[in-house]
Amino acid sequence: MTNWTFKVAASNELSVAGAEADDRIAELSKAIHGRRSIRRFRDGKIPREVVLELIEAAARAPSPHNRQPWRFAVLPRNEGKARLARSMGERLRADRMRDGDSVEDIEADVARSRARIEGAAIVLVAALTMRDMDRYEDARRNEAERIMAVQATAAAVQNILLLAHTRGFGACWMCAPLFCAATVRAALGLPEDWEPQALITLGIPDGAGRERPRLRIDETTIWLDDANVSAASRGS
Ligand SMILES: Cc1cc2nc3c(=O)[nH]c(=O)nc-3n(C[C@H](O)[C@H](O)[C@H](O)COP(=O)(O)O)c2cc1C
Repeated sequence: MTNWTFKVAASNELSVAGAEADDRIAELSKAIHGRRSIRRFRDGKIPREVVLELIEAAARAPSPHNRQPWRFAVLPRNEGKARLARSMGERLRADRMRDGDSVEDIEADVARSRARIEGAAIVLVAALTMRDMDRYEDARRNEAERIMAVQATAAAVQNILLLAHTRGFGACWMCAPLFCAATVRAALGLPEDWEPQALITLGIPDGAGRERPRLRIDETTIWLDDANVSAASRGS
């Protein structure tokens, strides 16, 4: 595979509208590159207005047919977080017992999950609803429609993570609700059509988080320039 590199917004050739655009690109790039998953928080609250602002940012994500399938439940209070952590912990314990894991490992996992949820200033449950999405007669197209709802919800979550980071808050995306959607729905009394996809834990960061390595661009991307396209078509 070609070993090429790409310089992010480094030269004037890449700018579209002069210095002002360069500043905006630099700011956005700083947010994208500087964000980290933050898993430990210090004591401290996140104001309600900030949470609303994060959800507003989520709603600016693109979505199929602009149907906006994302939904959010906000848990600012300890009781709600504790109830969620308890229910999810029971589910996790039952699943891992069935897997035959050691009680010690299971209890450590349950305690870790509980601490993560209860240690956050705010927990957001990100869910999707298929209510306004198109429906088809066949499973193939329904599946595509569902994936679109998942993708849009994920884009909305990313907006939350970026804005939280830019505002100086820490955030982490937790996948656990995918494994116990009905449990999360029941614990919080969420509407039947909400399909929990993720938890976003938010709080005052306790440390800057660790930079995790990324694959190189040439490991994830094929640049189909004219030469590559002709080589591919000759091979087929
Ligand atoms: C769909 C998804 C699920 C994730 N689930 C978890 C999780 O359950 N627990 C966790 O600590 N981090 C979770 N993460 C965060 C990833 O571990 C993290 O994004 C990755 O290691 C890269 O680190 P960074 O976000 O600091 O760049 C998840 C991220 C995504 C996108």
